[in-house]
Amino acid sequence: MKIQYYTAVSLDGYIADENHSLDWLFQFGEVEDTSYPDFIRDVGVLVMGSSTYEWLLRNEIYADPTAPKPWPYDLPTWIFTSRTLEKVPGADIRFANGAVEPVYREIAAAAGGKNIWIVGGGALAAQFYEAGLLDEIILTIAPVILTRGAPVFTSRIDSPPLHVAGVRTYANGLTELRLEVVRRGDEGGGMSSYTPIECSLHDQLESLATLGRACRVVYRDDSGEERETEGRLVDVFARGGAEYVRLDSGVEIRLDRLEWVDGVRFGGGEVC
Ligand SMILES: NC(=O)c1ccc[n+]([C@@H]2O[C@H](COP(=O)([O-])OP(=O)(O)OC[C@H]3O[C@@H](n4cnc5c(N)ncnc54)[C@H](OP(=O)(O)O)[C@@H]3O)[C@@H](O)[C@H]2O)c1
Repeated sequence: MKIQYYTAVSLDGYIADENHSLDWLFQFGEVEDTSYPDFIRDVGVLVMGSSTYEWLLRNEIYADPTAPKPWPYDLPTWIFTSRTLEKVPGADIRFANGAVEPVYREIAAAAGGKNIWIVGGGALAAQFYEAGLLDEIILTIAPVILTRGAPVFTSRIDSPPLHVAGVRTYANGLTELRLEVVRRGDEGGGMSSYTPIECSLHDQLESLATLGRACRVVYRDDSGEERETEGRLVDVFARGGAEYVRLDSGVEIRLDRLEWVDGVRFGGGEVC
């Protein structure tokens, strides 16, 4: 499971113009001609801010108020807002307000091991980044300059810089830039956003995660109590200098609190 901010952007870093219009983007044609169909296939949950949601209400659902269209996604969608907004009938829409961390566990559980798409805008994507909850930024760059509008990202990222994982040009003039968030301490790693640890524990857990294996996991909670849970390992990742495993239920366990996985005992970062 990856947390991905996937968006189109102007050359000068705006994802909508100052009137929340995307007309500058639509002149390049259909999303089917980009990586979007492949991208959305692996997405389990959408997350967006209220302006993006209201854009969809205005331009998609109620473009013709006499004949409302259905919500275009059949995936659970979280809308971050401090206001009370209407829900599109028949859509799996959930509202959230405030910090992203407390809601994240529920979002990850709903994704069921698939990716989480941060749709926009840039300040919401930055909140996920600041919480250590952003793995990739995938930008489809349009060769236009808007001079004003909604910014693509509002946090500073310069050291370590983002890792350029791929560049792709399309015949219609768009260019896709795939960027990985490099966490502090992982600068030497290059391709990976993990901090590799120097024993087979990381590799073993990573291969369990790759296989999506269901495991019985025993770990210690914050108070040192032993706890047991079951689930599929979906990720092994670093945050704030520590390493974690993430289960498809959204539970995240620090590696140094892990006791057993499927009968294999772990301890002190070594396989015993
Ligand atoms: N180019 C593209 O591919 C692309 C992709 C996505 C979006 N867009 C467009 O880009 C624009 C983005 O607008 P935007 O920059 O205003 O961003 P946005 O994230 O869509 O909306 C921002 C609003 O969301 C609410 N919000 C954000 N974080 C919150 C939190 N943690 N708790 C509670 N509420 C929170 C706040 O409004 P309230 O609290 O007042 O509700 C905030 O003003 C839209 O026009 C959208 O259509 C373009």
